Amino acid sequence: MAIKHFLQFNDLARDDIEYIFQRAAWIKKQFKSYQQYWPLSDRTLVMIFEKASTRTRLSFEAGMQQLGGSAIYLNTRDSQLGRGEPVEDAAQVISRMSDIVMIRTFEQSIIERFAANSRVPVINGLTNEYHPCQILADIFTFIEHRGSIQGKTVAWIGDSNNVCNTWLQAAEVLDFNVHVSTPPEYEVEPERANLYGTDHFEEFADPMQAAKGADLVTTDVWTSMGFEAENEERRKDFADWQVDADMMRVAGENALFMHCLPAHRGEEVAADVIDGKHSVVWDEAENRLHVQKALMEYLLLGKV
Ligand code: CP
Ligand code: NVA
Repeated sequence: MAIKHFLQFNDLARDDIEYIFQRAAWIKKQFKSYQQYWPLSDRTLVMIFEKASTRTRLSFEAGMQQLGGSAIYLNTRDSQLGRGEPVEDAAQVISRMSDIVMIRTFEQSIIERFAANSRVPVINGLTNEYHPCQILADIFTFIEHRGSIQGKTVAWIGDSNNVCNTWLQAAEVLDFNVHVSTPPEYEVEPERANLYGTDHFEEFADPMQAAKGADLVTTDVWTSMGFEAENEERRKDFADWQVDADMMRVAGENALFMHCLPAHRGEEVAADVIDGKHSVVWDEAENRLHVQKALMEYLLLGKV
């Protein structure tokens, strides 16, 4: 059987995603009712982190244990990865000692090189370009609250970063629309987002126009990990791209608010929005656990 990886959102077809959501709902229900479910007993997940994390580490580590397996954490500082061992060599070795690997790193090319030399499935836990596990959880959360996302409109306000690129890919796979508003010079780069076309997204100079009538308004930090040197400049450039109560009002009464977290209240989002009635950020964070359990089950066992 060919190894399946999840390196970017469009590595999965619509059917696979629908299947994973169905499994995630079942796995979540079992978990909530304290039913033991150990399909991955004796399986080992290796998690490689070259950037910081709270949610990704916790959800993968807890998730693997809850499925009966075990998880090992490696970071750049304490492993040979930080001392220049080629990623290809690391992939050969790590994938002979484990059953599945999750990597959080810098360039997408690093995870691609790892996957090309891996004997086991590789999952993208965030790169500079994409954050596919996040968007799986976000869409699963949307469906729980509002039903199918097909034909709906997601407003992305802020930086055209890894999370934004992944929303744009997901829109192509699952047939919904993304309205993007970024400051000038921070616009979406369709090639970097690896889109086949621009049918599913529209850019708006005015963030209020992007948010108007949206089913979901979402944003992320103004400065992503790895870009800290640009922090001061970005704070000025993004000052008019805060999701605030006025923006949620133009989106409408029924609009949801999401943020992948960690959030900076008073920067990309106003406190009364993230802590207010539209916000589903805690469900969104929790759902990382359930969808990633379903994803690992699918990559290791196929359709059960
Ligand atoms: N949203 C997310 O990936 O959070 P962490 O950086 O804490 O893993
Ligand atoms: N865009 C952010 C997401 C953090 C989960 C980053 O890459 O730092």
